Amino acid sequence: MEATGYSDDLAYVHHVGFEGFAERAAPWILGGLRRAGLRRGTVVDLGCGSGAFAARATAAGHRVVGIDVSPSMLAIARRRAPRATFRRGSFADAALPRCDAVVALGEVLGYRFDRRAGRPALRRLFRRVFDALAPGGMFVFDVAGPGRATVEGANVRVVRGDDWVVLVRRREGRGRLVREIATFRREGRGWRGTEETHVLVLFRPDQVLDDLAAAGFVGAQVAGFGRERFPAGLAGFVALKPPSADARPAPRRGPRAAAGRATDGGGRASRSRRSTSARVRGARR
Ligand SMILES: C[S@@+](CC[C@H](N)C(=O)[O-])C[C@H]1O[C@@H](n2cnc3c(N)ncnc32)[C@H](O)[C@@H]1O
Repeated sequence: MEATGYSDDLAYVHHVGFEGFAERAAPWILGGLRRAGLRRGTVVDLGCGSGAFAARATAAGHRVVGIDVSPSMLAIARRRAPRATFRRGSFADAALPRCDAVVALGEVLGYRFDRRAGRPALRRLFRRVFDALAPGGMFVFDVAGPGRATVEGANVRVVRGDDWVVLVRRREGRGRLVREIATFRREGRGWRGTEETHVLVLFRPDQVLDDLAAAGFVGAQVAGFGRERFPAGLAGFVALKPPSADARPAPRRGPRAAAGRATDGGGRASRSRRSTSARVRGARR
């Protein structure tokens, strides 16, 4: 496998300082699975990181398979969610077990740690997830999109905790987001520093919806995962494998059909979003 990011110190910092996104999203996603009748099913957590979602999902009675490329993240996840199963692998080609839900939280699907990341790999992943899911299964994920680096004001950010500091410099261009990250951890009386550069592919939400529909999903963009509202440049999606689907539809040429009934997450469907996403796609063609 190729080089990854999130080496020991940044994995630690993610664990102690940046798990809030998954922590806040988890109750909403798990509630959605309950309402969709997917209690105690198998959940695949792609890019599981330090295991925040996996810990909550196993506590709710799910069987969890976490997959991540970073050995340091996986080491923390194994301690944090001992009842889950974790494997090292890339979303681009990891074998997905038969499951009831797949999640990928925290912009996972755009990371270029695996050079295959991009729209073709995303399309392939959607098909693999569709095939792995049981009929009625759910796929919940978020991706970074255009504007991700430029909407939060200053493009240099400093975040600190008790025994760590990170400096992040962000820039965006040509469909990519680059984060240069300097991590400092206290070591005795001094500080130890490491640097990583993370490159992410930015995905346009309308294209993500098209690709979900092409894979057979009924998908919708959502404004947030429960209390976790997305800033501009971050897009979340909930996609359902239709309960009657036993096989993916044959590939079609030309404009895709509308994604179908959209959901506000948690299995509640709404027609209004469907027409919105259909209109948006239609307008751009
Ligand atoms: C921002 S972290 C999010 C972690 C976790 N999902 C959360 O929300 O706390 C992104 C994670 O994606 C993982 N990742 C990046 N590229 C990956 C790939 N190709 N396959 C699997 N995991 C990947 C990273 O190692 C990291 O753990």
